[in-house]
Amino acid sequence: MTILVTGATGNIGRRVVHGLVGAGQRVRAMVRDPLAARLRLPEGVELALGDFTRPDTWPGALAGVSRVYLFPFAHGTGFVEEAAAAGVGRFVVHSAAAAGFAPSDDPSALGRHLEEERQAHRGLELVVEATGKEWTHVRPGLLAANALGWAERIRASRVVREPYGRSGYPLVHEADVAEVAVAALLTTDHLGSAYTITGPAKVTQVEQAAAIGAAIGAEVRFEELTPAQAHAQWLVDGYPPEVADWLIELLADAVDGPGALPPTTTYEEIMGRPPRTFAQWARDHAADFIGEAA
Ligand SMILES: NC(=O)c1ccc[n+]([C@@H]2O[C@H](COP(=O)([O-])OP(=O)(O)OC[C@H]3O[C@@H](n4cnc5c(N)ncnc54)[C@H](OP(=O)(O)O)[C@@H]3O)[C@@H](O)[C@H]2O)c1
Repeated sequence: MTILVTGATGNIGRRVVHGLVGAGQRVRAMVRDPLAARLRLPEGVELALGDFTRPDTWPGALAGVSRVYLFPFAHGTGFVEEAAAAGVGRFVVHSAAAAGFAPSDDPSALGRHLEEERQAHRGLELVVEATGKEWTHVRPGLLAANALGWAERIRASRVVREPYGRSGYPLVHEADVAEVAVAALLTTDHLGSAYTITGPAKVTQVEQAAAIGAAIGAEVRFEELTPAQAHAQWLVDGYPPEVADWLIELLADAVDGPGALPPTTTYEEIMGRPPRTFAQWARDHAADFIGEAA
C-alpha cells in the first residue's frame, strides 16, 4: 500500500511523513521541488514531483496510491476527483477548525475571515465526501507553529512586540495533529469523523514568549504595542489591510475569554493522553529561536 502525503514539507505534513515511516509504511511525498525536499524528509520516502496548480503532474504522483493525506491547497483544483478516479480509496483531510463553524454573516473583519476559512475548508471536505471514498477530516485550531513568525526577531533581539499580551488561544502542536492524521490513515477507527484538535488550554502571548525564553535559556521580553501601533507596523511589514484588521480582532477577541477557538478534548479522547503543551512545542523548536535550525 502506498500512501501519498501532500504538503509533505509543511509543518504538519513533515510529521505525518515521519509518523508513517516510523510505522513501516510505504510513503510517497508529493513536493514541488524534490531536490530541496530530499534534505527535509527521511530516507526511504519516495519523492514525486506534484503541484496542485499543475494537473500534468498528478498522474505520476497518484499512480498506485491507495490513501492520501490531503493538504488544503487542493481546494478548487480537481485534484480530489482525479485522485478518486485513479484508485485512491481513503482521504485524510488537513482541514481547519473553521470548517466546523456555523455559516455566519458577521460583517466584522474577523467574521468575514472566519467565514472565508469555513467555506474553503468545508468546501474541500465536501468535495472529498462526494467521492464516496473513505474520509476523515482533521481540523486543527490555531497552530503553535504560528509563533515561528517571531523567530527572526527573537534571534536578533530576544523580544516579542505584539498587541494584547493577555490574549491567547489553545495553540496546537503540529505533532498532535499529525498523530491523529496517521491514526486515521492507518486504522479504520476514524472513518467518517471530523475532529477539531487544539492544544490543552489557552496560552497567552506573554506566556508564549516566556515559554520560548525558558526553552532557549534566555529571557524573551514581551513588549506590548497598542492595537494602533501593531496595525501600522503590520502594514509596513506588507500585510494586506484586511489581514491586519482581522488579526487585531482575533487577538482582541481572546483577551478575557476563549475567543473564536476554545479548547477541545478531542486529542485526549482519541489518543488517550493530553495534548502537548506550548512549553513542549517551544522546547521542540528551540533551535528555530536560537539560530541553529536545520
Ligand atoms: N496556521 C494555522 O494556525 C492553521 C490552522 C488550521 C489550518 N491551517 C491551514 O493550513 C494551511 C496552510 O498551512 P501553512 O501555510 O502553515 O503550510 P505549511 O505548513 O507551511 O506547508 C505548506 C505546504 O504546502 C505545499 N504547497 C504549497 N503550494 C503548493 C502547490 N501549489 N501544490 C502542492 N503543494 C503546495 C508546500 O510544499 P512544497 O513547497 O514542498 O512543494 C508545503 O508542504 C492553510 O490552508 C490554513 O488555512 C492553518
